[in-house]
Amino acid sequence: MTASGNRSFGSKGTAFQRLHQLLADTTPGRDAINMSIGEPQHSVPDFIAGILSDKANLFNKYPPISGLPEYRETVASWLNKRYGTGDLITADKGVLPLSGTREGLFFGALEARRRLSKDNPVILLPNPLYAAYAAGIVAAGCEPALIDAPASQNFFPDFDTLDKAVLDRTVAIYFASPSNPQGAVFDLVQWADLIERARTHNFYIFADECYSEIYRNTPPPGALEAARETGSADKVLVFHSLSKRSNLAGLRSGFVAGDPDFLANWVQFRNMAAPQVPIPAQYAAIAALEDEAHVIENRRLYNQKYAIADRLLAGRYAYQRPEGGFFLWLDVSAFGDGEAITKALWHEEGVKVVPGAFLSEDMPDGSNPGTPYIRLALVNTPEETETALARLNALTDRLAGRLADRPGGSAQPVSGGNS
Ligand SMILES: Cc1ncc(COP(=O)(O)O)c(C=O)c1O
Repeated sequence: MTASGNRSFGSKGTAFQRLHQLLADTTPGRDAINMSIGEPQHSVPDFIAGILSDKANLFNKYPPISGLPEYRETVASWLNKRYGTGDLITADKGVLPLSGTREGLFFGALEARRRLSKDNPVILLPNPLYAAYAAGIVAAGCEPALIDAPASQNFFPDFDTLDKAVLDRTVAIYFASPSNPQGAVFDLVQWADLIERARTHNFYIFADECYSEIYRNTPPPGALEAARETGSADKVLVFHSLSKRSNLAGLRSGFVAGDPDFLANWVQFRNMAAPQVPIPAQYAAIAALEDEAHVIENRRLYNQKYAIADRLLAGRYAYQRPEGGFFLWLDVSAFGDGEAITKALWHEEGVKVVPGAFLSEDMPDGSNPGTPYIRLALVNTPEETETALARLNALTDRLAGRLADRPGGSAQPVSGGNS
């Protein structure tokens, strides 16, 4: 494939702005259950408040952009425990705090472009995608190359479809594992393959691992785990967050780790412009990273909700339990496109979800791979989850009945219009 010159890229607003517009004239038909936003609702670890209160006197200080030494130490030790990174990443080399991964993923594009100074630079990204990637690509003045990641490929992109000329112009790839929305998980061989391509063609991997701790059975392997086998973190940057792992989306605490050269240069730029992480928040983050009990409980709660999904969705919407993350990515195309079903689900059943097309960009041929899908975040209680999924089934059963009742019995599913 070639790079996409799609002029609307990154300019349609966030999925949530668009959802607000889509549902503006529609009232919920029943008591509302909101499954649209991937904002964790499980409880904040109970030790966080005490630490923020104990360290509150430090809010008068500007935080160092490179973080407290003890914060970097904790990150390096957590990475070593989780991925066996050894001395690939140490407190002095290869770690920076982020004010949540979103800003880091955004600013990373600017640095990749600046460092590699290639003509007509390209950034690769699987489609669907997280909106901050698109914002970073636009701000960095790079050309996006959207890579399809269809269900037929288990939601993995096929890098062999990329032109060599595009790869040579590439300065970075955004790649999330587990992915949002599909929950697909890269294995070590796939990471190793991507690392080899990045080094051959001289571009950075922005491995978005913010869902790494939300998994069903097996911990997803990480990009640094694969890099360790090569003895170097060259071209590999991993982005981690406490937002999902520890239900601390409001703490704005994450980190980036990897390629020490990239980070040593980037920190100069970040020191002028990027948001720092407040010192009390860094102390809270240290405690969160040192505690796994709350993360185990968090996974248990999500897995309880996937058990409900297994029961209610089996044989419907091409549902398969995703390996990671906390979303359902459901193919509703038998009943209508994702926008139409989102509207009907809100109007008839009071369940708010996101149309898949709002989480994806148009491909160069004008198609949008998210069109057949809706995304549901499993952030509510098990009871609400059960109710919402039963309501979805009730709606699609009715729609199937309406379609069958039409003359000929094979009428077209409904369409929500343009996305
Ligand atoms: C794929 C992905 N990456 C990054 C983020 C950003 O998370 P945060 O900035 O809270 O670390 C999110 C948040 O929803 C996400 O879904």
